Amino acid sequence: MMDKIVDPKDFDYHGPALDTVFETYQELRGKCPVGHSEKHGGFWFLTRNEDIFAAEQDPATFAVSPSMLMPAFGTDVPLIPIDIDPPEHTDYRRVLLPLFTPRAVAKLNDGMHETARKLAEAVAEGEVVDASALFARPMPTIIFSRLAGFPEKDWPMFDQWIDDIIYERTDNPERAYKAGSEVMDYFDELLKSREGMPKQDDLIEILTTAEVNGRKLTHDELLSYCYLLFLAGLDTTAWAIRSSLWYLAQNPVAQKQLREDRTLIPAAVEEFLRTLSPVQGMARTCQKDTVVSGQEIKEGDRVVLVFGAGNRDPEAYTDPDEILIDRPNNRHLAFGAGIHRCLGSNLGRQEVVVALEEFLGVVDEFSLAEQDQAWHGVGPLMLKIGG
Ligand code: HEM
Repeated sequence: MMDKIVDPKDFDYHGPALDTVFETYQELRGKCPVGHSEKHGGFWFLTRNEDIFAAEQDPATFAVSPSMLMPAFGTDVPLIPIDIDPPEHTDYRRVLLPLFTPRAVAKLNDGMHETARKLAEAVAEGEVVDASALFARPMPTIIFSRLAGFPEKDWPMFDQWIDDIIYERTDNPERAYKAGSEVMDYFDELLKSREGMPKQDDLIEILTTAEVNGRKLTHDELLSYCYLLFLAGLDTTAWAIRSSLWYLAQNPVAQKQLREDRTLIPAAVEEFLRTLSPVQGMARTCQKDTVVSGQEIKEGDRVVLVFGAGNRDPEAYTDPDEILIDRPNNRHLAFGAGIHRCLGSNLGRQEVVVALEEFLGVVDEFSLAEQDQAWHGVGPLMLKIGG
Protein backbone atom coordinates (compact mmCIF):
# COMPACT_ATOMS: atom_id res chain seq x y z
CA MET A 1 0.00 0.00 0.00
CA MET A 2 1.30 3.45 -0.84
CA ASP A 3 2.23 5.81 1.93
CA LYS A 4 -0.40 8.52 1.67
CA ILE A 5 -3.08 10.07 3.78
CA VAL A 6 -6.48 10.62 2.29
CA ASP A 7 -8.68 13.38 3.59
CA PRO A 8 -12.31 12.27 3.03
CA LYS A 9 -13.23 15.79 1.94
CA ASP A 10 -10.83 15.45 -1.03
CA PHE A 11 -12.10 12.04 -2.08
CA ASP A 12 -12.69 11.72 -5.82
CA TYR A 13 -13.27 8.83 -8.21
CA HIS A 14 -12.47 10.59 -11.48
CA GLY A 15 -9.34 11.48 -13.46
CA PRO A 16 -5.90 11.28 -11.82
CA ALA A 17 -7.49 10.32 -8.47
CA LEU A 18 -8.06 6.92 -10.06
CA ASP A 19 -4.29 6.29 -10.21
CA THR A 20 -4.26 5.49 -6.49
CA VAL A 21 -7.96 4.94 -5.85
CA PHE A 22 -7.60 1.35 -4.59
CA GLU A 23 -5.22 2.47 -1.82
CA THR A 24 -7.66 5.29 -1.10
CA TYR A 25 -10.49 2.80 -0.69
CA GLN A 26 -8.43 0.71 1.73
CA GLU A 27 -7.70 3.73 3.86
CA LEU A 28 -11.20 5.23 3.80
CA ARG A 29 -12.79 1.91 4.64
CA GLY A 30 -10.87 1.88 7.91
CA LYS A 31 -11.67 5.41 8.99
CA CYS A 32 -14.98 6.32 7.37
CA PRO A 33 -16.81 3.80 5.19
CA VAL A 34 -19.45 6.51 4.74
CA GLY A 35 -17.75 9.88 4.34
CA HIS A 36 -18.29 13.31 2.87
CA SER A 37 -16.31 14.78 0.01
CA GLU A 38 -16.33 18.43 -0.99
CA LYS A 39 -15.63 17.65 -4.65
CA HIS A 40 -18.23 18.20 -7.40
CA GLY A 41 -20.51 20.30 -5.22
CA GLY A 42 -20.28 17.92 -2.25
CA PHE A 43 -21.40 14.32 -1.87
CA TRP A 44 -21.56 11.46 0.61
CA PHE A 45 -19.77 8.31 -0.48
CA LEU A 46 -20.73 4.75 0.38
CA THR A 47 -17.82 2.28 0.16
CA ARG A 48 -19.23 -0.85 1.83
CA ASN A 49 -20.61 -3.53 -0.49
CA GLU A 50 -23.58 -4.12 1.80
CA ASP A 51 -24.48 -0.40 2.04
CA ILE A 52 -24.28 0.06 -1.73
CA PHE A 53 -26.42 -3.00 -2.33
CA ALA A 54 -29.01 -1.81 0.23
CA ALA A 55 -29.15 1.68 -1.35
CA GLU A 56 -29.64 0.07 -4.77
CA GLN A 57 -32.66 -1.83 -3.37
CA ASP A 58 -34.22 1.38 -2.03
CA PRO A 59 -34.77 3.73 -4.99
CA ALA A 60 -37.50 5.60 -3.08
CA THR A 61 -34.82 6.93 -0.69
CA PHE A 62 -31.88 6.98 -3.11
CA ALA A 63 -33.39 8.48 -6.27
CA VAL A 64 -31.47 9.10 -9.50
CA SER A 65 -33.09 12.45 -10.27
CA PRO A 66 -31.70 15.01 -11.18
CA SER A 67 -28.91 12.73 -12.48
CA MET A 68 -26.76 9.76 -11.50
CA LEU A 69 -23.97 11.24 -13.60
CA MET A 70 -21.78 13.53 -11.56
CA PRO A 71 -20.39 15.76 -13.00
CA ALA A 72 -22.84 15.97 -15.90
CA PHE A 73 -22.12 14.12 -19.15
CA GLY A 74 -22.04 17.27 -21.31
CA THR A 75 -25.77 17.97 -21.01
CA ASP A 76 -28.32 18.92 -18.36
CA VAL A 77 -31.08 17.01 -20.11
CA PRO A 78 -32.12 13.98 -17.98
CA LEU A 79 -30.88 10.90 -19.79
CA ILE A 80 -33.34 8.06 -20.35
CA PRO A 81 -33.55 5.64 -18.58
CA ILE A 82 -30.58 6.30 -16.31
CA ASP A 83 -31.87 9.57 -14.81
CA ILE A 84 -35.54 8.60 -14.52
CA ASP A 85 -37.13 7.41 -11.26
CA PRO A 86 -40.13 5.13 -10.77
CA PRO A 87 -42.85 4.91 -11.80
CA GLU A 88 -41.85 6.28 -15.25
CA HIS A 89 -38.55 4.39 -15.24
CA THR A 90 -40.17 0.98 -15.74
CA ASP A 91 -41.82 1.92 -19.05
CA TYR A 92 -38.79 3.73 -20.39
CA ARG A 93 -36.52 0.81 -19.52
CA ARG A 94 -38.93 -1.70 -21.08
CA VAL A 95 -38.53 0.00 -24.48
CA LEU A 96 -34.90 -1.17 -24.63
CA LEU A 97 -35.33 -4.74 -23.42
CA PRO A 98 -35.65 -6.39 -26.89
CA LEU A 99 -32.23 -5.10 -27.83
CA PHE A 100 -30.39 -6.76 -24.96
CA THR A 101 -31.93 -10.19 -24.31
CA PRO A 102 -29.43 -13.09 -24.17
CA ARG A 103 -30.95 -14.26 -27.49
CA ALA A 104 -30.47 -10.89 -29.19
CA VAL A 105 -26.88 -10.76 -27.95
CA ALA A 106 -26.20 -14.37 -29.04
CA LYS A 107 -27.22 -13.35 -32.58
CA LEU A 108 -24.32 -10.90 -32.62
CA ASN A 109 -21.75 -13.52 -31.69
CA ASP A 110 -20.38 -14.36 -35.15
CA GLY A 111 -20.00 -10.70 -36.09
CA MET A 112 -18.25 -10.03 -32.79
CA HIS A 113 -15.71 -12.79 -33.40
CA GLU A 114 -15.05 -11.63 -36.93
CA THR A 115 -14.59 -8.01 -35.86
CA ALA A 116 -12.33 -8.89 -32.93
CA ARG A 117 -10.23 -11.22 -35.08
CA LYS A 118 -9.66 -8.59 -37.77
CA LEU A 119 -8.69 -5.98 -35.19
CA ALA A 120 -6.41 -8.44 -33.37
CA GLU A 121 -4.65 -9.26 -36.65
CA ALA A 122 -3.67 -5.60 -37.00
CA VAL A 123 -2.27 -5.67 -33.45
CA ALA A 124 -0.35 -8.90 -34.17
CA GLU A 125 1.49 -7.25 -37.06
CA GLY A 126 3.23 -4.68 -34.86
CA GLU A 127 6.07 -4.91 -32.37
CA VAL A 128 5.01 -2.06 -30.13
CA VAL A 129 1.37 -1.14 -30.54
CA ASP A 130 -1.36 0.93 -28.93
CA ALA A 131 -3.83 -1.85 -28.16
CA SER A 132 -6.38 0.67 -26.97
CA ALA A 133 -6.55 2.57 -30.27
CA LEU A 134 -6.21 -0.52 -32.44
CA PHE A 135 -8.41 -2.92 -30.49
CA ALA A 136 -10.14 -1.98 -27.22
CA ARG A 137 -11.82 1.16 -28.56
CA PRO A 138 -12.85 0.16 -32.10
CA MET A 139 -14.36 -3.19 -31.06
CA PRO A 140 -17.34 -1.80 -29.06
CA THR A 141 -17.73 1.09 -31.51
CA ILE A 142 -18.20 -1.33 -34.40
CA ILE A 143 -20.39 -3.83 -32.53
CA PHE A 144 -22.72 -1.33 -30.87
CA SER A 145 -22.92 1.09 -33.80
CA ARG A 146 -24.07 -1.74 -36.07
CA LEU A 147 -26.67 -2.82 -33.54
CA ALA A 148 -27.81 0.75 -33.04
CA GLY A 149 -27.82 1.86 -36.67
CA PHE A 150 -25.10 4.53 -36.36
CA PRO A 151 -23.68 4.80 -39.93
CA GLU A 152 -20.12 3.57 -40.43
CA LYS A 153 -18.96 6.79 -42.09
CA ASP A 154 -19.58 8.58 -38.76
CA TRP A 155 -17.62 6.22 -36.48
CA PRO A 156 -14.31 8.14 -36.76
CA MET A 157 -15.94 11.10 -34.94
CA PHE A 158 -17.02 9.10 -31.92
CA ASP A 159 -13.80 8.74 -29.90
CA GLN A 160 -13.17 12.48 -29.64
CA TRP A 161 -16.73 13.15 -28.48
CA ILE A 162 -16.44 10.44 -25.84
CA ASP A 163 -13.08 11.77 -24.64
CA ASP A 164 -14.46 15.31 -24.38
CA ILE A 165 -17.71 14.35 -22.67
CA ILE A 166 -16.62 11.60 -20.29
CA TYR A 167 -12.99 12.42 -19.61
CA GLU A 168 -12.87 16.24 -19.87
CA ARG A 169 -16.02 16.92 -17.87
CA THR A 170 -14.26 17.19 -14.51
CA ASP A 171 -11.57 19.74 -15.46
CA ASN A 172 -12.99 21.18 -18.63
CA PRO A 173 -16.81 21.22 -18.46
CA GLU A 174 -17.12 23.75 -21.32
CA ARG A 175 -15.48 21.27 -23.64
CA ALA A 176 -17.80 18.51 -22.43
CA TYR A 177 -20.89 20.70 -23.02
CA LYS A 178 -19.64 21.73 -26.47
CA ALA A 179 -19.14 18.10 -27.47
CA GLY A 180 -22.48 17.26 -25.84
CA SER A 181 -24.32 19.73 -28.03
CA GLU A 182 -22.51 18.38 -31.13
CA VAL A 183 -23.64 14.87 -30.22
CA MET A 184 -27.24 16.05 -29.73
CA ASP A 185 -27.10 17.77 -33.15
CA TYR A 186 -25.65 14.62 -34.67
CA PHE A 187 -28.50 12.44 -33.38
CA ASP A 188 -31.06 15.09 -34.31
CA GLU A 189 -29.84 14.85 -37.94
CA LEU A 190 -29.59 11.07 -37.83
CA LEU A 191 -33.16 10.67 -36.55
CA LYS A 192 -34.46 13.09 -39.18
CA SER A 193 -32.57 11.25 -41.92
CA ARG A 194 -34.35 8.02 -40.96
CA GLU A 195 -37.85 9.47 -41.39
CA GLY A 196 -39.65 7.70 -44.25
CA MET A 197 -36.78 5.24 -44.77
CA PRO A 198 -37.51 1.50 -45.12
CA LYS A 199 -37.59 -0.50 -41.85
CA GLN A 200 -34.23 -1.59 -40.44
CA ASP A 201 -33.46 -4.05 -37.70
CA ASP A 202 -31.73 -1.72 -35.24
CA LEU A 203 -32.04 0.47 -32.15
CA ILE A 204 -33.29 3.51 -34.04
CA GLU A 205 -36.14 1.39 -35.44
CA ILE A 206 -37.00 0.07 -31.96
CA LEU A 207 -37.04 3.58 -30.54
CA THR A 208 -39.02 5.22 -33.32
CA THR A 209 -41.73 2.55 -33.23
CA ALA A 210 -41.87 2.17 -29.42
CA GLU A 211 -44.73 3.35 -27.26
CA VAL A 212 -44.80 4.47 -23.63
CA ASN A 213 -48.19 4.92 -21.95
CA GLY A 214 -49.91 4.37 -25.28
CA ARG A 215 -48.05 7.13 -27.13
CA LYS A 216 -45.01 7.39 -29.37
CA LEU A 217 -41.78 8.78 -27.92
CA THR A 218 -41.22 12.50 -28.51
CA HIS A 219 -38.25 13.69 -30.56
CA ASP A 220 -36.53 14.93 -27.37
CA GLU A 221 -37.00 11.53 -25.72
CA LEU A 222 -35.51 9.78 -28.76
CA LEU A 223 -32.51 12.11 -28.60
CA SER A 224 -32.03 11.42 -24.91
CA TYR A 225 -32.03 7.62 -25.42
CA CYS A 226 -29.55 7.84 -28.30
CA TYR A 227 -27.25 10.14 -26.36
CA LEU A 228 -27.21 7.89 -23.30
CA LEU A 229 -26.70 4.65 -25.22
CA PHE A 230 -23.91 6.19 -27.28
CA LEU A 231 -22.05 7.05 -24.07
CA ALA A 232 -23.02 3.96 -22.06
CA GLY A 233 -22.36 1.43 -24.80
CA LEU A 234 -18.93 2.40 -26.09
CA ASP A 235 -16.72 3.76 -23.34
CA THR A 236 -17.47 1.21 -20.58
CA THR A 237 -16.79 -1.79 -22.77
CA ALA A 238 -13.63 -0.26 -24.26
CA TRP A 239 -12.39 0.38 -20.70
CA ALA A 240 -13.14 -3.22 -19.71
CA ILE A 241 -11.25 -4.64 -22.70
CA ARG A 242 -8.32 -2.27 -22.24
CA SER A 243 -8.00 -2.89 -18.48
CA SER A 244 -8.17 -6.68 -19.00
CA LEU A 245 -5.27 -6.45 -21.48
CA TRP A 246 -3.43 -4.10 -19.10
CA TYR A 247 -3.60 -6.77 -16.40
CA LEU A 248 -2.71 -9.69 -18.67
CA ALA A 249 0.28 -7.79 -20.10
CA GLN A 250 1.79 -7.78 -16.61
CA ASN A 251 0.77 -11.29 -15.63
CA PRO A 252 2.28 -13.83 -18.02
CA VAL A 253 1.05 -16.78 -15.95
CA ALA A 254 -2.59 -15.70 -16.16
CA GLN A 255 -2.09 -14.84 -19.84
CA LYS A 256 -0.75 -18.34 -20.52
CA GLN A 257 -3.58 -20.00 -18.59
CA LEU A 258 -6.26 -18.14 -20.55
CA ARG A 259 -4.44 -18.75 -23.84
CA GLU A 260 -4.30 -22.49 -23.16
CA ASP A 261 -7.83 -22.86 -21.84
CA ARG A 262 -10.34 -20.40 -23.31
CA THR A 263 -13.11 -21.77 -21.10
CA LEU A 264 -11.49 -19.85 -18.24
CA ILE A 265 -12.09 -16.50 -19.96
CA PRO A 266 -15.69 -15.77 -18.83
CA ALA A 267 -14.78 -16.15 -15.14
CA ALA A 268 -11.63 -14.07 -15.65
CA VAL A 269 -13.72 -11.31 -17.25
CA GLU A 270 -15.99 -11.19 -14.18
CA GLU A 271 -12.91 -10.78 -12.00
CA PHE A 272 -11.53 -7.96 -14.19
CA LEU A 273 -14.94 -6.26 -14.03
CA ARG A 274 -14.96 -6.60 -10.24
CA THR A 275 -11.44 -5.32 -9.61
CA LEU A 276 -10.96 -2.81 -12.45
CA SER A 277 -14.57 -1.63 -12.73
CA PRO A 278 -15.22 0.74 -15.65
CA VAL A 279 -17.85 2.60 -13.63
CA GLN A 280 -16.32 3.37 -10.23
CA GLY A 281 -19.35 5.22 -8.89
CA MET A 282 -22.83 6.54 -9.69
CA ALA A 283 -24.71 9.27 -7.83
CA ARG A 284 -28.10 9.33 -6.16
CA THR A 285 -30.03 12.07 -4.35
CA CYS A 286 -31.56 11.37 -0.94
CA GLN A 287 -35.33 11.84 -0.84
CA LYS A 288 -35.61 11.79 2.96
CA ASP A 289 -33.33 11.91 6.00
CA THR A 290 -31.71 8.52 6.46
CA VAL A 291 -28.85 6.73 8.23
CA VAL A 292 -26.23 4.54 6.54
CA SER A 293 -23.71 2.62 8.67
CA GLY A 294 -24.38 5.03 11.54
CA GLN A 295 -23.94 8.16 9.41
CA GLU A 296 -26.88 10.57 9.09
CA ILE A 297 -27.62 11.74 5.57
CA LYS A 298 -30.12 14.54 4.94
CA GLU A 299 -32.87 14.87 2.37
CA GLY A 300 -31.47 16.53 -0.76
CA ASP A 301 -27.87 15.37 -0.17
CA ARG A 302 -26.02 13.73 -3.07
CA VAL A 303 -24.75 10.23 -2.37
CA VAL A 304 -22.30 8.29 -4.52
CA LEU A 305 -22.49 4.50 -4.58
CA VAL A 306 -18.80 3.71 -5.02
CA PHE A 307 -19.09 0.39 -6.90
CA GLY A 308 -15.30 0.20 -7.27
CA ALA A 309 -14.86 0.27 -3.48
CA GLY A 310 -17.74 -2.11 -2.79
CA ASN A 311 -16.16 -4.49 -5.28
CA ARG A 312 -13.01 -4.64 -3.16
CA ASP A 313 -14.68 -4.78 0.25
CA PRO A 314 -13.03 -7.39 2.54
CA GLU A 315 -16.41 -8.03 4.18
CA ALA A 316 -17.67 -9.30 0.82
CA TYR A 317 -14.63 -10.97 -0.79
CA THR A 318 -11.64 -13.00 0.40
CA ASP A 319 -8.39 -11.21 -0.50
CA PRO A 320 -10.42 -8.48 -2.23
CA ASP A 321 -7.45 -6.75 -3.87
CA GLU A 322 -6.11 -9.95 -5.40
CA ILE A 323 -7.10 -10.60 -9.01
CA LEU A 324 -7.95 -14.31 -9.09
CA ILE A 325 -9.00 -15.23 -12.61
CA ASP A 326 -10.92 -18.26 -11.34
CA ARG A 327 -12.59 -16.63 -8.34
CA PRO A 328 -15.72 -18.62 -7.48
CA ASN A 329 -19.15 -17.06 -6.72
CA ASN A 330 -18.04 -13.72 -8.04
CA ARG A 331 -21.10 -11.54 -7.43
CA HIS A 332 -19.91 -8.00 -8.01
CA LEU A 333 -21.37 -4.53 -8.37
CA ALA A 334 -19.72 -3.52 -11.66
CA PHE A 335 -23.13 -3.33 -13.38
CA GLY A 336 -25.00 -1.95 -10.34
CA ALA A 337 -27.56 -4.06 -8.49
CA GLY A 338 -30.99 -2.43 -8.42
CA ILE A 339 -33.66 -1.20 -10.79
CA HIS A 340 -31.06 0.66 -12.86
CA ARG A 341 -28.80 -2.38 -13.18
CA CYS A 342 -26.97 -2.16 -16.49
CA LEU A 343 -29.20 -3.10 -19.40
CA GLY A 344 -26.18 -3.77 -21.60
CA SER A 345 -24.53 -6.21 -19.19
CA ASN A 346 -25.08 -9.28 -21.43
CA LEU A 347 -23.76 -7.41 -24.42
CA GLY A 348 -20.85 -5.77 -22.57
CA ARG A 349 -19.55 -8.93 -20.93
CA GLN A 350 -19.94 -10.94 -24.16
CA GLU A 351 -17.92 -8.33 -26.04
CA VAL A 352 -15.11 -8.50 -23.49
CA VAL A 353 -15.10 -12.33 -23.53
CA VAL A 354 -14.97 -12.47 -27.34
CA ALA A 355 -12.35 -9.71 -27.44
CA LEU A 356 -10.05 -11.70 -25.14
CA GLU A 357 -10.70 -15.00 -26.94
CA GLU A 358 -9.68 -13.54 -30.28
CA PHE A 359 -6.84 -11.40 -28.95
CA LEU A 360 -5.25 -14.37 -27.19
CA GLY A 361 -5.89 -16.57 -30.23
CA VAL A 362 -4.25 -14.21 -32.71
CA VAL A 363 -1.65 -12.14 -30.84
CA ASP A 364 1.61 -13.65 -29.51
CA GLU A 365 2.62 -13.27 -25.90
CA PHE A 366 2.50 -9.57 -24.96
CA SER A 367 3.78 -7.33 -22.18
CA LEU A 368 3.65 -3.64 -21.28
CA ALA A 369 5.94 -1.64 -23.59
CA GLU A 370 6.11 1.17 -21.02
CA GLN A 371 5.75 0.86 -17.28
CA ASP A 372 3.36 3.09 -15.30
CA GLN A 373 0.52 3.03 -17.80
CA ALA A 374 -2.79 3.89 -16.16
CA TRP A 375 -5.05 0.94 -15.32
CA HIS A 376 -8.13 3.11 -15.93
CA GLY A 377 -9.76 4.93 -18.83
CA VAL A 378 -9.48 4.38 -22.57
CA GLY A 379 -6.19 6.19 -23.24
CA PRO A 380 -3.23 4.55 -25.02
CA LEU A 381 -2.10 1.10 -23.89
CA MET A 382 1.33 0.46 -25.36
CA LEU A 383 2.03 -3.25 -25.63
CA LYS A 384 5.17 -5.07 -26.74
CA ILE A 385 4.20 -8.03 -28.88
CA GLY A 386 6.24 -11.24 -28.98
CA GLY A 387 8.59 -12.88 -26.49
C1 HEM B 1 -18.55 -3.71 -19.34
C2 HEM B 1 -19.36 -2.80 -19.75
C3 HEM B 1 -20.36 -2.05 -18.91
C4 HEM B 1 -20.35 -1.70 -17.59
C5 HEM B 1 -19.27 -2.00 -16.57
C6 HEM B 1 -21.58 -0.96 -17.32
C7 HEM B 1 -21.94 -0.44 -16.09
C8 HEM B 1 -23.14 0.18 -15.81
C9 HEM B 1 -23.52 0.73 -14.53
C10 HEM B 1 -22.65 0.70 -13.28
C11 HEM B 1 -24.77 1.24 -14.65
C12 HEM B 1 -25.57 1.97 -13.56
C13 HEM B 1 -26.15 1.02 -12.58
C14 HEM B 1 -26.72 1.69 -11.35
O1 HEM B 1 -26.47 2.88 -11.08
O2 HEM B 1 -27.42 1.00 -10.60
C15 HEM B 1 -25.20 1.03 -16.01
C16 HEM B 1 -26.43 1.38 -16.51
C17 HEM B 1 -26.79 1.25 -17.83
N1 HEM B 1 -26.02 0.70 -18.83
FE1 HEM B 1 -24.21 -0.17 -18.66
N2 HEM B 1 -22.29 -0.89 -18.48
C18 HEM B 1 -21.60 -1.53 -19.48
C19 HEM B 1 -21.99 -1.70 -20.79
C20 HEM B 1 -23.16 -1.23 -21.33
C21 HEM B 1 -23.56 -1.38 -22.70
C22 HEM B 1 -22.73 -2.11 -23.76
C23 HEM B 1 -24.76 -0.77 -22.83
C24 HEM B 1 -25.63 -0.59 -24.02
C25 HEM B 1 -25.27 -0.55 -25.21
C26 HEM B 1 -25.14 -0.25 -21.54
C27 HEM B 1 -26.32 0.39 -21.26
C28 HEM B 1 -26.74 0.78 -20.01
C29 HEM B 1 -28.03 1.38 -19.74
C30 HEM B 1 -29.13 1.66 -20.76
C31 HEM B 1 -28.07 1.68 -18.38
C32 HEM B 1 -29.21 2.33 -17.61
C33 HEM B 1 -30.19 1.31 -17.06
C34 HEM B 1 -31.33 1.96 -16.29
O3 HEM B 1 -31.24 3.12 -15.90
O4 HEM B 1 -32.35 1.28 -16.09
N3 HEM B 1 -24.13 -0.55 -20.65
N4 HEM B 1 -24.19 0.38 -16.70
